[in-house]
Amino acid sequence: MFRFAQHDKTRSVEPPRVLNVEDLRRAAKRRLPRVVFDYIDGGAEDERTLRANCHAFEEVTFRPRCAVATPACDLRVSVLGKSLSTPLILAPVGSSRLMYPRGEEAAASAAGAAGIAYALSTLSGCRLEDVADASKGPLWYQLYLVGGRDCALSAIERAKAAGFSALVVTIDTAVAGMRERDLRNGAKELLSGNLGSKLPFVSQLLIKPHWLAAFLADGGLMKFQNVVIPGKGPMLYADVTAALEHAAVTWDDLNWIRQAWSAPIIIKGIHTGDDARRAVDVGASALVVSNHGGRQLDSVAPTLRILLEVVASVGGHIEVLLDGGIRRGSDIVKALCLGARAVMVGRAYAYGLGAAGGPGVARAIEILRTDLVRTLKLLGCASIAELDRSYVDVPADWLGK
Ligand SMILES: Cc1cc2nc3c(=O)[nH]c(=O)nc-3n(C[C@H](O)[C@H](O)[C@H](O)COP(=O)(O)O)c2cc1C
Repeated sequence: MFRFAQHDKTRSVEPPRVLNVEDLRRAAKRRLPRVVFDYIDGGAEDERTLRANCHAFEEVTFRPRCAVATPACDLRVSVLGKSLSTPLILAPVGSSRLMYPRGEEAAASAAGAAGIAYALSTLSGCRLEDVADASKGPLWYQLYLVGGRDCALSAIERAKAAGFSALVVTIDTAVAGMRERDLRNGAKELLSGNLGSKLPFVSQLLIKPHWLAAFLADGGLMKFQNVVIPGKGPMLYADVTAALEHAAVTWDDLNWIRQAWSAPIIIKGIHTGDDARRAVDVGASALVVSNHGGRQLDSVAPTLRILLEVVASVGGHIEVLLDGGIRRGSDIVKALCLGARAVMVGRAYAYGLGAAGGPGVARAIEILRTDLVRTLKLLGCASIAELDRSYVDVPADWLGK
């Protein structure tokens, strides 16, 4: 019976029904209640940065080398000393368990099976030990300071013991961004309101019976299993927005974090060359040029646009990753041409997870990987290690800084 259901899910994301990430997005929209779909899909305020992240990839064009035979393409890359099959990492996506039962385990398992890394958000519904058991690939733990320093230290110890190989410290979340879709959809009322305030928003759950049945069978509203408040237990979902108000990470915090975690640290949320240099100064091993997928400060520059500035600032001292707006394998190629070592994706796989669980995540990875190979062949380039600026044209005003 289970095998049958699994087969059904795999079929639902197979070609020709699902050819690209936008198809996965539509499939997620069909399965998920609006409040969950918009949580994935939406951004902050006017969603300018959300749109700009994607649009920036359109502004960079390719310069292929034609009549070049590339029978095989080498996609392997080493990131922080671990070999990945593809220059791709699944970014931390909080509350993945709302998208699909045991969502974080499903995503980590699909990443491991594809030979790529998975970053687990602090704000996840599955225990980090269970996520480690579910994956055979490299795992990173993303740290927020919700719940305070002791809470973070205990998560760090657990992540170490469970075999996570890097710590991702997200620095762009001084407070939660203003995500208007969540407010309009009643996210607050559904999480913490009384029956009366919930009622106007409940119908969006009832009209998605498959999602609702799976959600209830998975235990209903998740708690944050890796934010264990001393004397209280796992943090309740309704408490997270208030907790984020007191959870800003500062450069000084990197000192005690460094003491507690001796393996590689990755700073996520770099928007400028200046902050990139600070990441080098505090001893980070890597950084992620990221604006949280346009979910935090609206009107910051798209990540691809500032990649050149950041790469120049760090001068090869640490590894540079990028996320934001990646929906095609050709987007990955463009980021690599401009100096990223690898990329992270958030929505591209979250849509897959929301559409069909693990098989949906696997399909997202497969789509990006197949695109990547095709793009390399069309460019006349046999290996991602050979990609550089000579394969792209960038708008002249990107080169000003
Ligand atoms: C639904 C959702 C939840 C997210 N939760 C987190 C999180 O808990 N921690 C974090 O550092 N980033 C989080 N992010 C940001 C992603 O890690 C990543 O930076 C972003 O999704 C990249 O943009 P993209 O979605 O266009 O690929 C989240 C993104 C999404 C879409």
